[in-house]
Amino acid sequence: MCGIIGFVGREPAAPILLDGLARMEYRGYDSAGVAVRSETKGLQVKKTKGRLKVLSDLIHGGADLEGNLGIGHTRWATHGEPNDINAHPHVSENGRIAIVHNGIIENYLELKEHLQKLGVTFQSETDSEVVAQLLEYHYNECHNMLEAVGRVLRRIEGSYAFGIICADYPNALIAARKDSPLILGYGENGNFIASDVTAIIKYTRDVAYMDDGEIAVLTADSIDVFDDELVPVEKHRSTVDWDVSAAEKGGYPHFMLKEIMEQPEAIRKTVSPRIKNGRVVLDDLHLTEEYVRDISRIFIIACGSSYHVGMVSKYNWEKLMRRPVEVTLASEFRYCDPLVDEKSLVVVISQSGETLDTMAAMREAKRRGGRTLAIVNVVGSSIAREADDVLYTWAGPEIAVATTKAYSTQLVLMDLVGLYLADLLGTVEQSEYDAILTEVQSLPEKMQEMLNRDTEDIQYFASRYFNHDSIFFIGRNLDYAMGMEGSLKLKEISYIHSEAYASGELKHGTISLIEQGTLVVALGTYAPLFDKAMSNVVEVKARGAEVLALTTEDFREKMEKTADATVAVPVTHPVLQPSLGVVPLQLFSYYVALQRGCDIDKPRNLAKSVTVE
Ligand code: AGP
Repeated sequence: MCGIIGFVGREPAAPILLDGLARMEYRGYDSAGVAVRSETKGLQVKKTKGRLKVLSDLIHGGADLEGNLGIGHTRWATHGEPNDINAHPHVSENGRIAIVHNGIIENYLELKEHLQKLGVTFQSETDSEVVAQLLEYHYNECHNMLEAVGRVLRRIEGSYAFGIICADYPNALIAARKDSPLILGYGENGNFIASDVTAIIKYTRDVAYMDDGEIAVLTADSIDVFDDELVPVEKHRSTVDWDVSAAEKGGYPHFMLKEIMEQPEAIRKTVSPRIKNGRVVLDDLHLTEEYVRDISRIFIIACGSSYHVGMVSKYNWEKLMRRPVEVTLASEFRYCDPLVDEKSLVVVISQSGETLDTMAAMREAKRRGGRTLAIVNVVGSSIAREADDVLYTWAGPEIAVATTKAYSTQLVLMDLVGLYLADLLGTVEQSEYDAILTEVQSLPEKMQEMLNRDTEDIQYFASRYFNHDSIFFIGRNLDYAMGMEGSLKLKEISYIHSEAYASGELKHGTISLIEQGTLVVALGTYAPLFDKAMSNVVEVKARGAEVLALTTEDFREKMEKTADATVAVPVTHPVLQPSLGVVPLQLFSYYVALQRGCDIDKPRNLAKSVTVE
């Protein structure tokens, strides 16, 4: 939530800030703002409600703001409505210090009251402004900006990534981080801070990841990092291997469509390096056979679509491993007094690696002695760095708020991990192991074949159904888990009310909602339960539902006899079928949202990376 960027160097800062914010707008798009410092004009702050485009037009692409030092922000509102005043940067009362913030200052009210008693006047309703005012207060005390930042950090509670500039320091940008991502970028013409590497890869791939409690002082030629006691820290620098085109639309109308189309390649990149000589090889996983045999319980923790991956994996892992697997929403897990102990393997799944609830749940699991394994897409993200083991999905940057390729790569990676652990436990037959492995490798090809097909039928269904107010996704077992993802995709980007139900549960209440013309998306791709799926289709048809069915090619004919419309996907091993089944669901949501004229890549009220509770 919220994207921050900062630049200090030998080039005009404003266009660089706007360009970086454009690549991070998926993090929040309620308002945007920049502060730039120049010798002649001092601190210039421009901020406005609405999309970045409004800000960019206001300052003519940055041309209006002079200066080679600046900070920028794109906001997902938490404290205070999205308006011009609550937009960042926030400026101290004397107008000499400007800050951008991502995170939440939990004790801001108490600090605000304290400062108000001292006579400070606040402009906004935000928690962030308190930091600008507190900085001025401490700077007036010690006349040293680094020291003032240190004093402020000791007083605030909560999560933060800050970019700070001060009129008295014309050549320095200060940054600090705790529990919100912040990256340092070492460029040729200057140095950067950013919430996300995508914001700066156009300028540099040479980065370092700030750790909690660290403060950085950047000039055009140097980056010095200090710990919370202001003792210098040596940072490990690494090279980002994503290229700029990965974060651009490349001719597609939306990032979401581009990312759907990129799935075969993303799966290939995630799977190929991990299969050698017919075996799953997970070099980065440091679990001994002895440890794995001793695992008494497996927990999978995640939010949103990553949680839905966990749901699919629960079915698959229990089948393969014969061990209990509990899937819990991270926001519930952290407060449920979980039964985690030293014999628990706790798998956390997160595309961004920054989701606050997932991070907190992981810390709770560690505190209780569990061993944590993170499945993460963003290299160097907080969850990746704190987990005991990390396996990366190689989906590349995902920009659309609605996840597609990250979901797909998480799914296959979890299948590989399940197979690997089952093999160590000796709970999977060799023939089954080989069959799954062969099919995992053919997924990219089968998916590509689906994507190469004309999507006219899906576009036609979208045009036929886009006006429905409420849509049900029904299925059993893996189809139920996949339906959860189909339903979330639809509701998040098209704003149509939608629910996923386990088909067998319908008759225990929900079927009362089915009436003439209700749209039911019936999922029947899981071969072992196809007949059961058919019975449920018949049941809802009998109550007047219009049924759009999804099945596999070998069951198409049967399904077509009952459903109103049918989409069929290629057959693969049953445990892998959701990897193919989800694609038409993604496309259906995409085209429905397109028909409804929705803002597909940036749906209302949402943000890509949820770094608040
Ligand atoms: C799905 O389209 C959403 N973007 C959302 O549900 C997402 O999966 C969830 O917020 C978890 O994010 P993470 O994988 O980055 O932790």
